[in-house]
Amino acid sequence: MSTLTIATAREVFELLREDMVAIEQELGRDAASSVSTITEIAEYLREGGGKRIRPSLLLLAAHQLGYHGPGAIRLGAVVEMVHAATLVHDDIIDGADTRRGRPSANTTWGNEKCVLAGDWMYMQAFKVALEEKNFYILELLIGLTQQMVEGELLQIQKLGKAVSEAEYYDLIFRKTACLFSVSMRMGAVLAGATEAEENAFATYGRGVGLAFQIVDDVLDLTASEEVLGKPVASDLREGKATLAVIHAFDHGTASDRKAIQRVLDDRSFENVSRQQIQEALVRNGSVEYAMAAADRYAGQARQALAGFSDSDFKRALLWVPEFVVAREK
Ligand code: IPE
Ligand code: IPE
Ligand code: MG
Ligand code: MG
Repeated sequence: MSTLTIATAREVFELLREDMVAIEQELGRDAASSVSTITEIAEYLREGGGKRIRPSLLLLAAHQLGYHGPGAIRLGAVVEMVHAATLVHDDIIDGADTRRGRPSANTTWGNEKCVLAGDWMYMQAFKVALEEKNFYILELLIGLTQQMVEGELLQIQKLGKAVSEAEYYDLIFRKTACLFSVSMRMGAVLAGATEAEENAFATYGRGVGLAFQIVDDVLDLTASEEVLGKPVASDLREGKATLAVIHAFDHGTASDRKAIQRVLDDRSFENVSRQQIQEALVRNGSVEYAMAAADRYAGQARQALAGFSDSDFKRALLWVPEFVVAREK
């Protein structure tokens, strides 16, 4: 058992500072199109900030295995662009009006332009990735993008249904954890990792990603819009049953089940109040249940690092799952 201590947020920030500056510059260059509307939308997304967690993971994976080159900057920008493109499309699909504490792009430019800008951003990401001249990287990105689109589509198909936990996990792997996993894999690939190292990193990414989306879904139920920077209490209103709600549905009383199904059917809190749902979640310990699941996946992620040598990068990788579970936005 290693006695390696985990890093602090400040240490991780310092460790990645220079690389993150370079990634921001790369993102700035990559947001430019000859069509001004696209540049405006891509720039707006970039300026909006965000946690930049996916490029951070890619950098940490690459550095842990000794890679320090321009490829990690480029691919870091690539995973952030893929993420940003999915956010543009996701906000259209969800009809969301806030993102990163500002009006969402669809609110400002409308759905038509944003669909196209999102498409353009996907392709810009692939164009930058092409510079690596590595077919395996492209294969990873293509598989990833298909998984993400399939995830969002499956979600639409299941709207209004109290899905099973298995369906929920399949969905959140595709729409969120797969990108975390591929970010880790690509960092490993850059560093010329062995298959075993790459797979261990992929397992780590999957664990962090699943924990991340479980917590995102809990925050939708428990956080405020001011802190979160995006709409809250919106999943149920959109007809989405997430882990805590699934738990209350499966373990609650007949009247809990009826209340939850009603909100999913109505897509509103008109007939059943938000308080009533909150009360069912509290009574069934459903938020704790979901957070315990997030903890378990965070633990799986940390476990996956066991075979790697001790370093500042590994300390940082050990910190990420804790951060993901404890975050407030
Ligand atoms: C939001 O991701 C979309 C989900 C997968 C839940 P983030 O929470 O990483 O968004 P930003 O980039 O920090 O805004
Ligand atoms: C994550 O799901 C969507 C993506 C992977 C783009 P959500 O719909 O919960 O994400 P937020 O809450 O809008 O950020
Ligand atoms: Mg959304
Ligand atoms: Mg959400």
